[in-house]
Amino acid sequence: MSVTIVYGSDGGCTKKIASRIASKINGRVLDIKKAQVSDFEDCSLLILGCPTYGDGDLQTDWDERLELLEEADLNGKTVALFGTGDQENYPGSFVDAIGTLYDIVVEKGANVVGLTDVEGYDFTGSTAVRDGRFVGLALDEDNQSSQTNARITTWLAQLM
Ligand SMILES: Cc1cc2nc3c(=O)[nH]c(=O)nc-3n(C[C@H](O)[C@H](O)[C@H](O)COP(=O)(O)O)c2cc1C
Repeated sequence: MSVTIVYGSDGGCTKKIASRIASKINGRVLDIKKAQVSDFEDCSLLILGCPTYGDGDLQTDWDERLELLEEADLNGKTVALFGTGDQENYPGSFVDAIGTLYDIVVEKGANVVGLTDVEGYDFTGSTAVRDGRFVGLALDEDNQSSQTNARITTWLAQLM
C-alpha cells in the first residue's frame, strides 16, 4: 500500500506528527507548500494533517493551497484525516480544520476512514465531530501530549 501524508504546520507540531506517522507506516510525507495535484491522487491511502488556527480556521498554507485538493480526483479514494488543536484555549472550535477538510474530500467522493471517539477529550464544540465521532484523529499536543503516541498507534492499527 502506498501512503502519502500531506501536512501543513506553522509551529512544527503537525510536521512532527506527520513524520512520526510516516515512519510507522513507511509513508511519504509532504508539506502542503510543496504538494501538487498528483500527490493527492498517486497513492492508495491519502492522509491529510492540519492544525486549526484563528477561530476554527485552516492553517495558512492549507488555506492558500486548498484549490490543489479541490482540483484533485478523489473519487473513490481512501482518505484519512488528522489534526492538531488546543481544547483548553479553543474549546469551541477544537480541531475544526479536520471538519473543513472532511467536507471537501467527501464532496469529491472520497471514502473517509479512521473516525475516532470523542471520549478522553474536553471541549464544547467542533466541526470535526459528526454523529458523535471525530471524522479523523484529533491530537492535542498543547494539553495531552502524553496521549499522542498511543492515539497514533491505535489509529494506525485501525487504518491498516
Ligand atoms: C492564534 C492561534 C489560534 C488557534 N486556534 C485554534 C482553534 O481554533 N482550535 C484549536 O483546536 N486549536 C487552535 N490553536 C492551537 C493549534 O492548532 C495547536 O497549537 C497546534 O498544535 C499547532 O500546530 P503547528 O505547530 O503544527 O502549527 C490555535 C493556536 C494559535 C496560536
